[in-house]
Amino acid sequence: MDQPARRAVNSATRIAAGDDRTAYDPVARSLHWLTVFFVLANFLLALTWEDVAKPTRHLMIVAHMSFGILLGAVVVARIVWRMIPGHQMPPATEGLQELAAKGVHWLLYLMLVGEAVLGFVLRWSGGESMIFFGVPIPSPMDKVSRPTHHLIAEVHQWNGYAIVALAALHALAALYHHFVVKDQVLRRMLPSAPR
Ligand code: HEM
Ligand code: HEM
Repeated sequence: MDQPARRAVNSATRIAAGDDRTAYDPVARSLHWLTVFFVLANFLLALTWEDVAKPTRHLMIVAHMSFGILLGAVVVARIVWRMIPGHQMPPATEGLQELAAKGVHWLLYLMLVGEAVLGFVLRWSGGESMIFFGVPIPSPMDKVSRPTHHLIAEVHQWNGYAIVALAALHALAALYHHFVVKDQVLRRMLPSAPR
């Protein structure tokens, strides 16, 4: 069976089973918007903590680490969830657009998982414990030299900014679909989407 025919059969059997896949399931939607919240919160914290005096700055860094760990967990949960049979969404577009959307989604996942790993390595490589809402997670590794530690901080920082830039383009694409093309791409990811 060729691909379009297989898609038509898949969609017909799902509709027959009472599931028309017009929206992402509630778990996928919740995990998506939690990801957005943690990325933006961590970006804003990292942008502003430099200008804040000490006791508050420390709290902001601890919040960044705690949200970062939650962000890593949410992203891994989303990847596992979408791999479970029956949880895949049919693509919203076709051809090159479908390929581009898939590429951006997987690149975002790769960069997000990388950012969480870099976050742990950054903290531990400086000889400090990771902190999750006040609970220390001791370092399993030796402290590295100052230049290496600095390099890890740079890579973490630029990967973080790249995530935000790519996510902004991705959000613009979703808004373009909604307001210009006027299709279902954004609607099927909204918290209010029908299921
Ligand atoms: C997209 C999300 C993120 C952005 C934009 C971001 C950005 C940043 C930036 C700009 C810094 C300062 C780097 C420097 O000192 O030069 C930083 C530090 C740090 N980040 Fe992130 N980060 C993100 C996600 C995460 C995640 C997921 C984790 C952990 C799982 C994490 C853990 C850390 C740690 C431990 C530090 C060092 C804090 C310290 O001891 O000073 N970050 N982050
Ligand atoms: C930090 C910000 C964001 C990140 C990291 C992010 C990440 C992702 C990822 C990884 C996916 C793929 C979901 C999957 O199928 O597993 C996705 C889907 C989607 N996102 Fe985002 N997103 C962000 C912000 C936004 C914003 C602000 C909007 C809306 C304006 C948006 C709209 C959508 C839509 C509509 C989809 C589904 C696309 C489709 O069905 O092909 N995202 N997002």
